[in-house]
Amino acid sequence: MALNGRSPMKSSYEDGAFYNQNTRVNPFLIEHVNGLPAGQAIDFGCGVGTNSGYLLSRGWNVLGIDVEDIALDMAGKKLNGNIFRQDLRAIEWDALPDFNLALCNYVIQHLSITEASTFLNDLAAHLASRGWLFLSVFDRENVLCFSEAAQLLANVGLVLQESKNWKRWDYDHGPAHFHVGTEAFFLKC
Ligand SMILES: C[S@@+](CC[C@H](N)C(=O)[O-])C[C@H]1O[C@@H](n2cnc3c(N)ncnc32)[C@H](O)[C@@H]1O
Repeated sequence: MALNGRSPMKSSYEDGAFYNQNTRVNPFLIEHVNGLPAGQAIDFGCGVGTNSGYLLSRGWNVLGIDVEDIALDMAGKKLNGNIFRQDLRAIEWDALPDFNLALCNYVIQHLSITEASTFLNDLAAHLASRGWLFLSVFDRENVLCFSEAAQLLANVGLVLQESKNWKRWDYDHGPAHFHVGTEAFFLKC
């Protein structure tokens, strides 16, 4: 797959107001997981644990994974310490619990296309049969756009169940900028 001139986004919590993700649980995630029986979830790139904390409140066991200490400190408070400092480019898969829900909410844009491909392939291999992947991407800026990710996941047995495209201005961090994105659920068959 070509990189098409795109490069991974910078990831930093040092500007204090990072993504303002402290209170905004992804509404599409809420809509979908409320129909699922609770199990084990892993939130890859969990940030401050907003979505993970929601899942925990719905009865899921949740492990939050991130590479940023500031984020993990905050996530750890929401997840009763159930956090793991890991880089998505070098996940120790055997050290993770079995999981039937994987969240990748706006994280793979921080990886190169090769790194994201490897990560998603490995994730698909480790997700339980009939398990779910919730994937959100910024379609303009991320290195792996949605159609590329969906094709990659289809190749490894994850079937797109439902998706939503959106466009909005982002005022949460840095200068106002416009995003185009997709949020989607995949089922491992
Ligand atoms: C846009 S934030 C999204 C946070 C969270 N998923 C949410 O929706 O609130 C992206 C997160 O990915 C994390 N991240 C970026 N690169 C990573 C990497 N290589 N390994 C693990 N986490 C990474 C960042 O630290 C940040 O917390």
